[in-house]
Amino acid sequence: MIVAEAWKANYLFWVLPAVLILGLLALIGILGLFFAIRLYAKLTCGRYREKTRMDGKTVIVTGCTSGIGKETAKELANRGARVIMACRSMEKAEKVQDEIIEETKNQNVLVKKLDLSSFASIRTFAEDINKTEKKLDVLIHNAGYAETFKKNISEDGIELTMATNHYGPFLLTHLLINLLKKSSPSRIVVVASSLYRLGTCNLDNPNPINTMPGYLYYVSKEANILFTKELARRLEGTGVTANCLHPGLIDTGIWRNVPVPLSWGLGLINKLFFKTPVQGCQTTVMLAVDEKLTKVNGEYFSDCEKSSVSSKASDMARARKLWEISEKMVKLEDDDPRI
Ligand SMILES: NC(=O)c1ccc[n+]([C@@H]2O[C@H](COP(=O)([O-])OP(=O)(O)OC[C@H]3O[C@@H](n4cnc5c(N)ncnc54)[C@H](OP(=O)(O)O)[C@@H]3O)[C@@H](O)[C@H]2O)c1
Ligand SMILES: *[C@@H]1O[C@H](CO)[C@@H](O)[C@H](O)[C@H]1NC(C)=O
Ligand SMILES: *[C@@H]1O[C@H](CO)[C@@H](O)[C@H](O)[C@H]1NC(C)=O
Repeated sequence: MIVAEAWKANYLFWVLPAVLILGLLALIGILGLFFAIRLYAKLTCGRYREKTRMDGKTVIVTGCTSGIGKETAKELANRGARVIMACRSMEKAEKVQDEIIEETKNQNVLVKKLDLSSFASIRTFAEDINKTEKKLDVLIHNAGYAETFKKNISEDGIELTMATNHYGPFLLTHLLINLLKKSSPSRIVVVASSLYRLGTCNLDNPNPINTMPGYLYYVSKEANILFTKELARRLEGTGVTANCLHPGLIDTGIWRNVPVPLSWGLGLINKLFFKTPVQGCQTTVMLAVDEKLTKVNGEYFSDCEKSSVSSKASDMARARKLWEISEKMVKLEDDDPRI
């Protein structure tokens, strides 16, 4: 009896507080670790700090209703550029347009409809730009689509990931190349991803409708790099440059199609380790504005620094073959410009 009483007293006075204190310390430890990781990520993430202005320059940013595209558009508007937001959803885009104009006080921000999975939409958009814009200084291929398991094809019968991420930008570049050349020195910036390492373009199967789209996302990002390399080679001496980049891993909408329960784990990792969209747009902005890069062509950047790509993604024979395949896939017409 006395022993039990004594234990209870002991429990109340020592064990419980000790457990509470240990628990509190553990919580502080976990929070500390969390902030340490965030701080490390912040300190090691490339930042573009030059204040270079873009007054008088016209820039097209594709897919800027969310994520890094939105931050890229905002940052360029802030530097005084005329920003053409090329988006598939006018409703979402107009909201973002209002937000950018309000924040940057730059009225020169336009929205134009562009669905990169549709050749017809790309042609309508390019015709409109060709008619209404006297010059084009920077074309930023930012839009991207990722699906995990759900297969789908575009209205042109092309696997949707490849259509949106590779063939669409390929066609759009052709239709705008004369305007870019006329405006030289001018630039093309392609938002690729280091995840290209997980996928390899199957050049014998340019329309992989039976392949898992999750894997094709990686493939499409390899295609972005091969496309940039071959484009840069073809543009040598024209005053138009083409470079690509890995923006980092970023907490954006690109992960929206990852299904439950994978998405729960991913969501946590996203918040813990991934960059914010503002951090994620830095390398794109640098490639679009930095004066030191006027002549840099055919390179791959990451965290605001030049970086190297694997030998398979810089294999110029593969790059050329993908180019020739793509010319057929997008059905270039006789009077379309060739690059
Ligand atoms: N997030 C990352 O960790 C990461 C890493 C490496 C590379 N990237 C690349 O970064 C780029 C931007 O992606 P994000 O991460 O910012 O993702 P996001 O928030 O999902 O933004 C993607 C943008 O692309 C647009 N888009 C999708 N399909 C389109 C189509 N058919 N036509 C026109 N626009 C279309 C989306 O428009 P809607 O709003 O209409 O859907 C959205 O504005 C992508 O190229 C992606 O591959 C991202
Ligand atoms: C398939 O893609 C088209 C766009 O090409 C889209 O309109 C449609 O909703 C998609 N279908 C499914 C089932 O996701
Ligand atoms: C752009 O417009 C010019 C005339 O202003 C025309 O010669 C050219 O073919 C057009 N290019 C495209 C891709 O529409």
